[in-house]
Amino acid sequence: MKILVTGGTGYIGSHTVVELQQQGFEVVIVDNLSNSQVSVIDSIEKITGKRPHFEEFDLVDYVKTLDFFSRHSDLKGVIHFAAFKAVGESVEKPLVYYRNNLVSLMNILEAMISSKVENLVFSSSCTVYGQPDVLPVSEKAPIKKAESPYGNTKQISEEIIQDTLKSSHLKAIALRYFNPIGAHESALIGELPLGVPNNLVPFITQTAIGLRKQLSVFGDDYNTPDGTAVRDYIHVVDLAQAHVVAVKRMIEAKMKHNFEIFNLGTGNGYSVLEVIKSFEKVAGMPLNYQIVSRRAGDVEQVWADPSWSNNELGWKAQKSLDEMNASAWKWEKAYRSQH
Ligand code: NAD
Ligand code: WQD
Repeated sequence: MKILVTGGTGYIGSHTVVELQQQGFEVVIVDNLSNSQVSVIDSIEKITGKRPHFEEFDLVDYVKTLDFFSRHSDLKGVIHFAAFKAVGESVEKPLVYYRNNLVSLMNILEAMISSKVENLVFSSSCTVYGQPDVLPVSEKAPIKKAESPYGNTKQISEEIIQDTLKSSHLKAIALRYFNPIGAHESALIGELPLGVPNNLVPFITQTAIGLRKQLSVFGDDYNTPDGTAVRDYIHVVDLAQAHVVAVKRMIEAKMKHNFEIFNLGTGNGYSVLEVIKSFEKVAGMPLNYQIVSRRAGDVEQVWADPSWSNNELGWKAQKSLDEMNASAWKWEKAYRSQH
């Protein structure tokens, strides 16, 4: 059972490779290392005892992508993580984002068609819902106009996939992630943002370890219980396990339609201050933070209705916010002790 994991040395990809290998899948990773390090392969091997096959190239390269698939036509499925994901950067460099995220997807779809590989799992995002009118947000909620070119690449990608399915043998599952945080319990893999982190939890752990002076909390005047914005944080290992379930669903022909969408969230919304309090509790230390003004483009609150995923996939996120923060902190300390 051979699976291609694109972006497999990245944050979510690496955790998914571990879960796939632990469930007996053979994994081939393609990554151009634009936002990850090749040493992640060693870490995956340390955790699982198996070294995934790795090829380094850019999936925007049509010829290389086609060549890869012609050499791996025995693939049972593809999990496509590879993409650029920094919302702010996408506003500065929209064409870089459109090219990377859309051309790589189109190349993969073409290659899957020509090499007769059937099953695609695609990394989508809760960003497609914008600020939902109804909370919790279910998969039936309308797609809102994207706030950023990054968000737009996820909306367009879902459309490209759906259009392609209409005229081919392909099947696809789009997984809409809410806010993945945390790290593998081994602390051998985790989130490794380049430069100053944009996301909340890496900023918290980098502040706690002394790399950043202070966390800025973006706004305390939202219409939420404590005034700070609310999100559905999900442990990256819970998220990774959902990918294994999705791949099995496709291979075992359990899909109800050739295109399915699932929310991957816990169903719980936590405010920024609640995340900080949980971190302070598990780390046993106070965090230096100050309230500043809102960040442009942020929605007020969003959390998932995961009931469709829970019922259809038989999957449910297990880990608590404290466990997410504890694992993120363990990873930050382990990584910094070696770098
Ligand atoms: P990441 O940056 O850690 O991993 C992405 C990997 O893809 C990196 O290793 C990068 O080097 C690689 N890559 C990028 N473009 C490539 C290309 N053209 N060719 C080959 N490799 C390429 O990001 P992540 O957090 O693991 O996210 C994985 C996926 O999940 C992305 O599609 C992202 O948009 C999506 N997603 C992430 C989040 C989140 O908060 N982390 C939330 C929702 C959706
Ligand atoms: C969470 C909360 C911030 C940093 C992003 C993308 C989304 C998806 C997940 C890919 C917000 C607040 C943050 C800080 C803060 N990614 N915050 N100080 O914005 O919910 O979602 O990642 O698809 O598309 O937009 O995640 O971690 O950046 O922020 O107060 O230094 O923390 O305002 O309320 P976000 P985040």
